[in-house]
Amino acid sequence: MCTWFPSAFRALAALSVLSVVDGYSYHIQKECRYSSQDLKDTEFLERRIFNKQEWLRYNSTLNEYIGYTDIGVKNADRFNKDEAELAGVHSNLDAYCKNNAEKYFKAILWNKVEPTVKVKTVKASSERHTTKLQCSAYDFYPEGIKLKWLRNGEEVTRDVTSTEELYDGDWYHQIHSYLEFTPQSGETIECQVDHSSFSQPKTYKWDPSLPEGERNKVIIGASGLVLGLVFSIAGLVYYKKKSTGRILVPSS
Ligand SMILES: *[C@@H]1O[C@H](CO)[C@@H](O)[C@H](O)[C@H]1NC(C)=O
Repeated sequence: MCTWFPSAFRALAALSVLSVVDGYSYHIQKECRYSSQDLKDTEFLERRIFNKQEWLRYNSTLNEYIGYTDIGVKNADRFNKDEAELAGVHSNLDAYCKNNAEKYFKAILWNKVEPTVKVKTVKASSERHTTKLQCSAYDFYPEGIKLKWLRNGEEVTRDVTSTEELYDGDWYHQIHSYLEFTPQSGETIECQVDHSSFSQPKTYKWDPSLPEGERNKVIIGASGLVLGLVFSIAGLVYYKKKSTGRILVPSS
């Protein structure tokens, strides 16, 4: 169904906080660890943690408890001698981890999130008559994306550079591709994006008008100019009126 699988997928399935009292906290964390879709090597862990210190852990691969503190070691010894206890905790591997695996994969791993794509001018060099464009795809999941530049529908590969697919640290990725070229009037430049969230590649057209930041600068500059002119003219009119008025006043 899906060829991609993360190197380690953990489902922190139950996080039962038993108590948080007077700054002390104790919780039991049940964890399913998946390393492949066929559920081979699936692992169930039950971890007991007091004030961030894990003191006892059950590991289904070993089918044993491991103690990390004196009390942990004592408890591990006691539990590991108890066949019924081990059988009981081990049953979670099938009943809980493997049984729910498909649900977790569907809800999380096989999810697809479409990228947000932006095409913009990053640098227009007037001496060399070249323009540098940037096509960015943000917040897509999972990784695996293709960006292409099209000039009048034809793929351009010359003077194209790209970043790697960058991991954002929050399941999402981003990538940036750059095209340096000499613009000609009447042509269309597009960035074509293909991602598993699309049924077919999507194209995004470059708008050769000034980028928004530049446009705002022009608008602010023009507004300043108009405002300046208005005040100048108002001042001039005021001055003219005053000076003509003065002349009209008889001096005798
Ligand atoms: C559980 O035990 C197996 C076998 O020793 C080991 O390979 C694995 O890393 C352990 N898992 C954890 C989370 O400690």
